Amino acid sequence: MPQQNDLKRIARQHLETDRLLGVDFVPIKTPQSEPAPEPAAAAEIEVNIPPGPVQPSTGTRKPTSLFEAASPAQSVPRRSRQEKADALEALRTRHDETCPHCTTATAHTQTVFGEGAPDAELIFIGEAPGEQEDRTGRPFVGRAGRKLDEIIQAMGLARPDVYIANVLKSRPMGNRTPLPTEVEQCAAFLAEQIRIIQPKVIVGLGGPAVKWLLGTNVGITRLRGQWATFTDAEVSVPVMPTFHPAYLLRNYTPDTRGKVWSDMQQVMAYLQPASE
Ligand code: URA
Repeated sequence: MPQQNDLKRIARQHLETDRLLGVDFVPIKTPQSEPAPEPAAAAEIEVNIPPGPVQPSTGTRKPTSLFEAASPAQSVPRRSRQEKADALEALRTRHDETCPHCTTATAHTQTVFGEGAPDAELIFIGEAPGEQEDRTGRPFVGRAGRKLDEIIQAMGLARPDVYIANVLKSRPMGNRTPLPTEVEQCAAFLAEQIRIIQPKVIVGLGGPAVKWLLGTNVGITRLRGQWATFTDAEVSVPVMPTFHPAYLLRNYTPDTRGKVWSDMQQVMAYLQPASE
């Protein structure tokens, strides 16, 4: 049973969230009001899932099924926080030296590898760096990033508690949507980041990120709010698709804000089950 302090904390979080997100309608369900849904069971959309992209690093990326149960990593070594930090740093160097896309692209000034806790339970994955990210070398630091910070804070977390990365590590020409070939080349490194961090949950921010994570062409409007799974040869991680913060800013309505917050509540419920 939740303790009095937990209930107070949750109530404070809701109030804070109302303030930060301006949500006029906060879904009644709270993380503690009922058990977290099983990620796979909650995904009940009938779609044809095309095969997922091939990961050059392993050679095999299983087609991702929305209905597939998330299971613990099969053969991924257990690493300490420091070992994960070291592995991520080595990967960053290898990425910057060898990524077929980022070493040949010309529109960016520097790569944006990703940042946050090397052992984060929660990873947010966006599309690609924008102008400010390109200038600073850090993901989500522009206007959309500030909205993401607010969302993270409303979830009772701080930016250093989570990990933030993008499908593409270099800014596309004119901020256009990444091309499939660019994603195929660069996102193999993101898959490695996920395997190193071994998060409990991934939040896919917007269509391009969710398309890559789930290997699907189904639109974000249909997918958001429903648990799915990122699966490759080594890991299987629950994914919560939601709208991109930039889309949220462009469509700052009670409906869109309420949907994003509802999606984040599902993530919070999964990370903090009622018994904890
Ligand atoms: N949008 C993204 O998708 N990623 C960023 O890092 C910034 C904006």
